[in-house]
Amino acid sequence: MEKFIVEGPTKLIGHLMVAGAKNVALKALVASLLTDDTVIIQNVPDIRDVHLMVEVLEHLGKRCDVKKDVITIQNNAPHTCTVPLEVGARLRASSMVLGPLLSRYGKAIIPNPGGCRIGARPIDRHIDGLIAMGATISYASNDGYFHADAKNLHGAEISFEKNTHTGTETLLLAAILAKGTTILHNAAEEIEVDDLISLLNQMGAQIERKGKREIVIEGVEKIHGTTFTIMPDRNEEVTFAVAAIASKGNITVHHSRREYLSAFLDVLEKVGGGFEVIDDDTTRYYYKGPLVATDIVTAIYPGFMTDWQAPWALLMTQAKGESVVHETVFENRFTYVEELKKMGAQILYFDPDVSRPEEYYNFNWKDRPLGTHQAIRIQGPTNLHNAVLSVNDLRAGATLLLAAIIGSGKSYLYGIEQIDRGYEHIEKRLNEIGSHIERVTEDALS
Ligand code: EPZ
Repeated sequence: MEKFIVEGPTKLIGHLMVAGAKNVALKALVASLLTDDTVIIQNVPDIRDVHLMVEVLEHLGKRCDVKKDVITIQNNAPHTCTVPLEVGARLRASSMVLGPLLSRYGKAIIPNPGGCRIGARPIDRHIDGLIAMGATISYASNDGYFHADAKNLHGAEISFEKNTHTGTETLLLAAILAKGTTILHNAAEEIEVDDLISLLNQMGAQIERKGKREIVIEGVEKIHGTTFTIMPDRNEEVTFAVAAIASKGNITVHHSRREYLSAFLDVLEKVGGGFEVIDDDTTRYYYKGPLVATDIVTAIYPGFMTDWQAPWALLMTQAKGESVVHETVFENRFTYVEELKKMGAQILYFDPDVSRPEEYYNFNWKDRPLGTHQAIRIQGPTNLHNAVLSVNDLRAGATLLLAAIIGSGKSYLYGIEQIDRGYEHIEKRLNEIGSHIERVTEDALS
């Protein structure tokens, strides 16, 4: 087990390069299953979830050569259609191999990706779509696997009941080699979906975004290999922007994509956070004076992203006044709140008055466990102090790491493998611009 020991407070001042987008890299790897040709993906982040997806592909018969940020995927052994429980259950996105396996081989056996620490996260919307395309899918609770078959996966017209980012992508991946035309209504518009569509069309797929939230896919006989560079990670950039301002520092972010961050930049300006356009893909984020509180509500694209709300909440602990964070996408995404309160943050949970919550929230209302809340009220500014912190999910982990950097004293973070899932070499990169983070390996018994 590893932990971080963090000495604060420190200012973060310097330059950071945003790595490739985790939420494109994982799907680009899955896309390689659609062809026997070589696929080369560039700008891949060196993160745990990518390593896990590589393991999944190797179980399915591919060979992945990783050289720095380039992964070359080739056929290696006869394909299989089963994702082993041990690796599949640790990587929710591994369920997306359903699409390529069903369309190419008519069979897939995958572990139930199920709940993680930010909610139930079922894949009912994915499965409903695949069934509409002719798949039969059953869940065997005695073995924890979904068993899927599709003698003849065919095109279908599918309307998602609610937005699903990876659900849209799973059906895209299924429809490419399916017979006939597939039309997805109420399809996700997250920009990472478009990056995946660019890759797939470069491989010979025929995918087009038609009207609002509508994607049309013409099935083709086969697709070919390619070399593709994935986009930078929006969530990393927002994390770094918060790091600069919360630490009263100044970080120049390279590979910046401001055009995908407007919902964040609008509220950042509103609260008095500084950012300066250096050039097309460079933005300097800096502390320019006391912050004032404001309210945010998370939303699907192009709204304020749910992955940004945890770091944002930390920033609001440093803002004068009362701010509200209302989470509408996941039903349990405040796992960091109790940890911030250990550091002195003044945060109360509440449930906003929403007339039709079963429609308003993006998660399935029935999945909501008792006792969870959808909003928090933060009083600021508060001087945070050190604490022993436990990390429960990826963005919460990044948030607690930043809190330890700006808090006074020595903090201890446990469960940091969650941070490694989505942020490459995070302590190395932040220590180069002023933090004092030490990664310590603990033997199991201590
Ligand atoms: C993707 O998750 C991202 N993960 C998430 O990033 C991101 O927060 C999310 O999209 C929203 O943009 C990857 O791309 C690997 P959803 P996904 O399907 O696809 C519920 C990060 O930190 N739902 O849009 O799982 C679901 O439980 C991660 O990088 C169903 O109920 O999100 C959630 O509450 C976290 N049934 C909501 O809908 C379904 O079949 C949105 O889910 C599908 C989803």
